Amino acid sequence: MKISKILAPVALATALSGLLFAQRLRDEAQHRGVLVGTAARAYLLSEQQYTATLAREYNLLEPENDLKWQTIHPAKDTVDFLPGDQLVEFARLHEMKVRGHCLMWGHYLPQWLEDGHFTASELRTLLHEHIAKVVGHYKGRIYAWDVVNEAIDEKGQLRSSIWYDTPGIGEARHGNAYIEQAFRWAHEADPDALLFYNDAEAEGMSRKSDSVYAMVRDMKRRGVPIHGVGLQMHIFDLKPDFNGIEANIRRITTLGLQVHITEMDVALPVDGGGKPRDPADVQRQAEIYRRIATACVSTPGCTAIQTWGFTDRYSWIRSWTKGRQGNPLIFDHEYAPKLAYKGLSQALRDSPAHGSAPNQ
Ligand code: G3I
Repeated sequence: MKISKILAPVALATALSGLLFAQRLRDEAQHRGVLVGTAARAYLLSEQQYTATLAREYNLLEPENDLKWQTIHPAKDTVDFLPGDQLVEFARLHEMKVRGHCLMWGHYLPQWLEDGHFTASELRTLLHEHIAKVVGHYKGRIYAWDVVNEAIDEKGQLRSSIWYDTPGIGEARHGNAYIEQAFRWAHEADPDALLFYNDAEAEGMSRKSDSVYAMVRDMKRRGVPIHGVGLQMHIFDLKPDFNGIEANIRRITTLGLQVHITEMDVALPVDGGGKPRDPADVQRQAEIYRRIATACVSTPGCTAIQTWGFTDRYSWIRSWTKGRQGNPLIFDHEYAPKLAYKGLSQALRDSPAHGSAPNQ
């Protein structure tokens, strides 16, 4: 059965639920000339509350895991587009844009690739074929890609991965030639897609964000097809450096690159039952969402704000922190909007408009 037949009843339910919510994040975002998005999981499209909230509130979605190597390329000669296609079709039905994540990362790679002991020339061919096949399959349907994810470490150095550790993927046999090569292949496969470098812990002003800034500035100067930087914005300490983040967004957009906040969540210390240890943290969390979203919306060139999931029910944080932190998102486990939702909504409503929506 066609995917659209499966999803059609969802569209009806979503339209009805949209009538119940006067304000919607996506309307406020559209008015401000930005996209508001969330990571999403194909296997959850069978859950009515999940799809109703997703379609009602967001004009952008990003497959959390369904376009990663391990999911989409599980065996050397197997490519599984079904989960990605389900999310892309859902987005099409609900007039949402799609970000692709991610074409090159050192993690979450399938065993056949990790343990393949491929030569540089073999790895170069495998990566080229993967990028050409995946970006080609979604050409015109995925408007922006995280081409390379988390290639720089906390010291600002290129980190070890099968890609970095096998010189020869790029033309030059050193430095970030392998990163540039991935961007060039992605651009060949879809010249209209916006291509991003995406990283964590590089949101404020730091040695790491200086390295990201220097790398993307150099790439842009030399005509490498790069269009933006993704700042993941995973906040674990309730004390983000707001001024540093604003300064970093400004300096990147001053290069003529876009900034997307790509994976925002604000983790709260929780007790064994998953309840916030300090009720005041809930207000702190809301203020962080408001401040960070304002930093983006009020800076021309910062064109998307995305959270890493939208309901606390399915966040990666509790498992990642072994239960010590949780409740990082803007809808609670029962899909009720939290104070954090109001913080994000207020930023979209009250921040100065960008003017006309940029080429998103
Ligand atoms: O789907 C399998 C399931 O079949 C199996 O039974 C289960 C048992 O291990 O694993 C499931 O796969 C898990 C997958 O999430 C889907 O739930 C993987 O083990 C698990 O490692 C994977 O974690 C994801 C992680 O990236 C690694 O890919 C998280 O959900 C996802 O939120 C996280 O997202 C990353 C971004 O891609 C990059 N930025 C950091 C961010 C957080 O780590």
